[in-house]
Parts: sequence; C-alpha cells; structure tokens
Amino acid sequence: MIVRTPPMGWNTWNTFGECYNEEVLREIADALVDRGFAEAGYNHLIIDDHWVMEHRDPETHRLIPRPGKFPNGIEPVVSYVHGKGLKFGVYSCVGARTCGAKMGSFEYEFTDAEWFSEIGVDYLKHDYCLRPEKSNGETLYRRMALALRDSGRDTVFAACNWGCDDVWSWIRSIGAHTYRSTGDICDNFKSFTDIFRSQVFKLGASASGCFNDLDMITVGMDGEGNVGTSELLTEGVYRTQFCVWCMFGSPLILGCDVRTVKDKYRDLLCNSELIRINQDPECRSPFPVAFDDALVFCRLLDGGDIAVLLINVNDNACNMSFLPYDIGLTEESGYKLSMKDVLNGDTFEASDIMFVPVPPKDCRMLRGRLVRK
Ligand code: GLA
Repeated sequence: MIVRTPPMGWNTWNTFGECYNEEVLREIADALVDRGFAEAGYNHLIIDDHWVMEHRDPETHRLIPRPGKFPNGIEPVVSYVHGKGLKFGVYSCVGARTCGAKMGSFEYEFTDAEWFSEIGVDYLKHDYCLRPEKSNGETLYRRMALALRDSGRDTVFAACNWGCDDVWSWIRSIGAHTYRSTGDICDNFKSFTDIFRSQVFKLGASASGCFNDLDMITVGMDGEGNVGTSELLTEGVYRTQFCVWCMFGSPLILGCDVRTVKDKYRDLLCNSELIRINQDPECRSPFPVAFDDALVFCRLLDGGDIAVLLINVNDNACNMSFLPYDIGLTEESGYKLSMKDVLNGDTFEASDIMFVPVPPKDCRMLRGRLVRK
C-alpha cells in the first residue's frame, strides 16, 4: 500500500493512558465527526496500549481484548468507528510484552496480522518495549511489516522505535509507512521543541510512502490527561507546535480530548491552509535557514509555492529576519517574493531582507511564491 501523504487521526494515549473503554471510544468517534475533525482529514481513530490481556487465547493463540473495556469484544467498536466513516487503528509491540506489560506480538506477528485484518484494522502502531535482549529491532519490524502486507487488508504500519538504532536508515526499506523518531512527547514547551530540533537534520528520510512521526500532538490538552503538565501552554505555544508538525510533514495524530477541546484549538487543528502545507503532494522536507536562537524553516511546495515558518522561542517579541537569498533568490533575478500570512492574511513582498514581527513564544507561517518585480 502506498501512503502518499502523512496519515491523520486521533490516538487514546495522550488523554486517556490506560483509562478508556468502548463507551469513551464511541463518544470520541462521534466528536471526530460532529466537531469537524473528520472533515478536516483526521480519519483514523487509534487505540493505544492496554487494550489486550496479559495472555493469549490458549487455543487460537490470538490476542484477547480486555473484557473490562470491551465487554462485547472489539468488533462492535470497529464497526461503530467504520460506520462513522472513520478508520480503526490498534497498538501492539515488537516485544513479548507491550510498554504497559500487556501481550505483545513477538513471534506471533503473522497470527496477529491475520486477526487484525479479519476484524477490520486499518492502522497498526507497533511499539519497541520488552523485546528479547539479543533480538534485532530491524528484523522484528520487518516481520510485522511482512505479515501485514500478507494479511489481505490495507493497513498503515506505524513503527514506534523512538528513533533508536538509526531508524531513518532502514525503516523505509522494511515497509513501514511512518516511524516515531523520538521519545515520548509531554505537554510542555521544552518537550516538543526538543523533539523537532532533534529531527531537523534527519528529515531527508521522510517522504511520500514513509514519514517521520514527531509523536502525538498535545495542542489543546491544557495540562489535562496522561501526558499533562503543570505548565499551562499559551495559544502561541500550541500554534507553534501545530505549525511545526505541518511544516515538517509529520503525521498529524491528535491527542487532546476532542469531545471537549476548546473551539479555538479545534479551529487551529482543523485550519485547512496549515493542513494543506502538511499534506502537500510533493512531500518535500523543510530546510532550516536559521537554526539557533531564531528558528526559520522554508519548504518548497507543489505548484511553485514556498512556505516559511518563523519561530520566536524567546520571552520577548522580536522582528525576525528572512533573507530571500537563503532560498536561492538573487537581486538580479528579476523576481521578488510575494507572501501571505497563513493565519491572519497579512501580505509581505520582498526582494531583499524581510523583517517579520513575531510575538514571544509564538510563530508566523507564510506561504507565497516568486513574482516578477
Ligand atoms: C511508548 C510509546 C507511547 C505509548 C506508550 C504506551 O512509550 O512511545 O507513544 O504508546 O508506549 O505504553
């Protein structure tokens, strides 16, 4: 299966951790549709760790959904989600146990893939905990990818080995569609800035077919949930997180409680211009033109457009500079840049250095193209 642009969806982990059940999932499926997330493109509902028991069925060797969460088995949930026009995702692990010590897929990859296909799974997040000390991670991912490809159902294979073992150098070849490139995100500024800063020079491996996954978005969590924090994040900080995920072409997997998230964050997460940058069909990686205190990234888009993201990580407002020269535009070219702020509609024109005011801990996302002077 070819996954042409970064997958989009919602995952239980950030908000619920271990505490979710059939009823919660139905409510989430309803909210994804009723609040416009599905229409914006968030079409996968993914259950993370803790959905299966600590043992397998002694006869079939299949995984067993936890009866406390799913008294009627997992099938009714899958059909409810499918009935809403959404796709259904599950979680497993290369290890004999998952990170939460539930049953993993080690040496049962073909059994599990066959069952996933039978019940209608469309997406598998495959984690990296508790594998035998001497086993080779690449081989274990290769096995599950092969089992899924053989299962007869198109399934997005989302590897989650946290960027270990130079994952970017082999993950595309084994058949994965996305790969988590870092440790787990927390709902704070340092966590997500550390995550994206660590990937800036590794994005060349992320392209159509297999995407670098910066982890599940915390926008709108407001300190609540399983990866919460006492630090309440501002709108500017959340705006920055979402703009980076869009600019970097990361899968957009939401983690906030979509039933209750504030309208202003729903609107940000569903902003069609930002999502259009994320889903750009050329799938090119962004490149840094400033990467120290000031962070400025550019990205070439389909049809000759260019996106520029300017991030002010400081506590004071500043005028951030952008040199058209850095993207290859020369004085004598006869062209200038004509740019529009994707979020507020302001327009800019520049053939020489351009200064863009950016509020503290906030960003500006511009989109434009070359025009004749
Ligand atoms: C790992 C993953 C997380 C989440 C937890 C569940 O830490 O990186 O995204 O799936 O396991 O236990």
